[in-house]
Amino acid sequence: MEVAARTAIALLLALAVLCGGAQGRHHRHTKHTRHNSAHAHAPSHSQAPGPSSARRHARPVSPPAPPPSSYPAPEPAPEPASGGAAAVYDVVKDFGAVGDGVADDTDAIKTAWDTACADDGDGVVLARAGYSFLVHTTVFTGPCQGSVTIQLDGTMVAPSDPDKWPANNKRNWLVFYNAHGTTLRGAGLIDGKGQNWWELPCKVHKGQGGSSGHGTSCDSPVMLRFFTSNNVTVQGLKVQNSPEFHFRFDSCRGVHVSGLSISSPQGSPNTDGIHVENTQDVLITDTAVSNGDDCVSIGAGTLNVHIENVTCGLGHGISIGSLGKQGTRACVANITVRNAVIRHSDNGVRIKTWQGGSGSVSSVSFENVRMDAVRNPIIIDQYYCLSKSCENATTAVFVSGVSYAGIRGTYDARSAPIHFGCSDAVPCTNITLSDVELLPASGQTVDDPFCWNVYGNATTPTVPPVACLMDGVPGNYADHTSLKCY
Ligand SMILES: *[C@@H]1O[C@H](CO)[C@@H](O)[C@H](O)[C@H]1NC(C)=O
Ligand SMILES: *[C@@H]1O[C@H](CO)[C@@H](O)[C@H](O)[C@H]1NC(C)=O
Ligand SMILES: *[C@@H]1O[C@H](CO)[C@@H](O)[C@H](O)[C@H]1NC(C)=O
Ligand SMILES: *[C@@H]1O[C@H](CO)[C@@H](O)[C@H](O)[C@H]1NC(C)=O
Ligand SMILES: *[C@@H]1O[C@H](CO)[C@@H](O)[C@H](O)[C@H]1NC(C)=O
Ligand SMILES: *[C@@H]1O[C@H](CO)[C@@H](O)[C@H](O)[C@H]1NC(C)=O
Repeated sequence: MEVAARTAIALLLALAVLCGGAQGRHHRHTKHTRHNSAHAHAPSHSQAPGPSSARRHARPVSPPAPPPSSYPAPEPAPEPASGGAAAVYDVVKDFGAVGDGVADDTDAIKTAWDTACADDGDGVVLARAGYSFLVHTTVFTGPCQGSVTIQLDGTMVAPSDPDKWPANNKRNWLVFYNAHGTTLRGAGLIDGKGQNWWELPCKVHKGQGGSSGHGTSCDSPVMLRFFTSNNVTVQGLKVQNSPEFHFRFDSCRGVHVSGLSISSPQGSPNTDGIHVENTQDVLITDTAVSNGDDCVSIGAGTLNVHIENVTCGLGHGISIGSLGKQGTRACVANITVRNAVIRHSDNGVRIKTWQGGSGSVSSVSFENVRMDAVRNPIIIDQYYCLSKSCENATTAVFVSGVSYAGIRGTYDARSAPIHFGCSDAVPCTNITLSDVELLPASGQTVDDPFCWNVYGNATTPTVPPVACLMDGVPGNYADHTSLKCY
């Protein structure tokens, strides 16, 4: 370890001693095990001052909790990368975390991260089953010397009272910043304790007009934010009750999410399951989301996203957008959603853009999506607007090359199951449908799909029949292709 890092940690430890007896024990213990590990269990990458470097400590003690639905089943978390040399940093044994759900364990967990991060081998921060760690808003900062895995088999909880949060820092709970190569996994639970946030008077509640939006006074924390972090993996955890988005990945390259179970109550405001923006190369598999807003939302600057074996319930379905707000340029391309189940949601697969704006959404494929009583199973809405007074504009984000193949199931018959509301200024082009079969969950068929300025075709007969797609391309097509980002 670098002298500077060692000094910094010594300083933190000294502070901890000043602040409480538990941490004092931790100091001695760490020194002690460090001594041991150097002689008895030195990891193969040597020099690493792991407080306890017994091999394989990090293996999950039980399989991940099953998602709320039976489909799909998550895979058990695999073993740590081969080699078995990861040094284990046990937040309770080595860093004095209390884990009773009441004591503040922020410093213990942060110090465990910092120590693992300074280790030039692979480090595992271990938060064992049977403990509940209360953690305040924290930034886990990299880059690290090696790659760090947080193995969470216990529970991590946020403070439940919004007033306990620092006034100037209510937008994130746990942040990973420049934390390349980080893995967050385990059989544990992360609980954002969002109830008190959802009830804030400034929130837009279902049934209200929705004019207040959510301004600064209504900032609520994203539970887990990965910012400028490449090659990150999140696996196997149960994540619930976020004050706002559960996951947000922004400005990342290489994101792998699998085996998660994400849940918040129906109607909980802005509780998107996984939000991605300005991010490339994303794989989301074997994950179940049940919440109050988008299941997965894809924002501007997102490229190469593959979503497979995902189940969404109660919220707003899988969304690309909203894009182009206040005239902004948005580029989204190469998005695949395959083998999804969407249940009792306001939308199924949706693309939403504001009037105004520029850029494009292209190469989007929705394949084999089962709908169960979904209100708008297939929807493109280029008139997205949260107030009642959005002016129509002469520009728009260009939507082109969207295919819907094997979209089957039932819709909530309050509206037509297929809705293509494309912009007057910039029509949607190359929209293709095949094997689409949508029946009313109950009551009368609503068999008048809505089309406005949309070009494309159905390559097989669809239920309901879609006769309103226009052939070919619009006359001023060349003007629109200049909007394309790629
Ligand atoms: C991700 O990891 C792979 C393999 O370790 C590496 O080759 C690649 O450069 C990394 N990508 C980024 C964007 O850091
Ligand atoms: C589209 O994204 C997938 C990953 O989801 C990637 O494998 C593929 O190469 C991308 N296609 C293009 C044309 O970049
Ligand atoms: C999705 O689930 C199917 C069926 O269980 C499985 O064969 C496939 O490998 C899964 N896909 C991914 C990307 O995990
Ligand atoms: C915007 O255009 C759409 C489609 O042409 C139309 O239905 C709507 O009334 C227009 N809205 C305004 C505010 O002009
Ligand atoms: C239509 O979009 C698909 C992707 O959905 C793309 O592969 C194809 O090249 C596009 N066709 C045209 C004529 O642009
Ligand atoms: C369907 O539309 C695409 C692009 O809009 C076009 O290339 C293709 O020829 C069309 N197919 C049929 C059968 O009309």
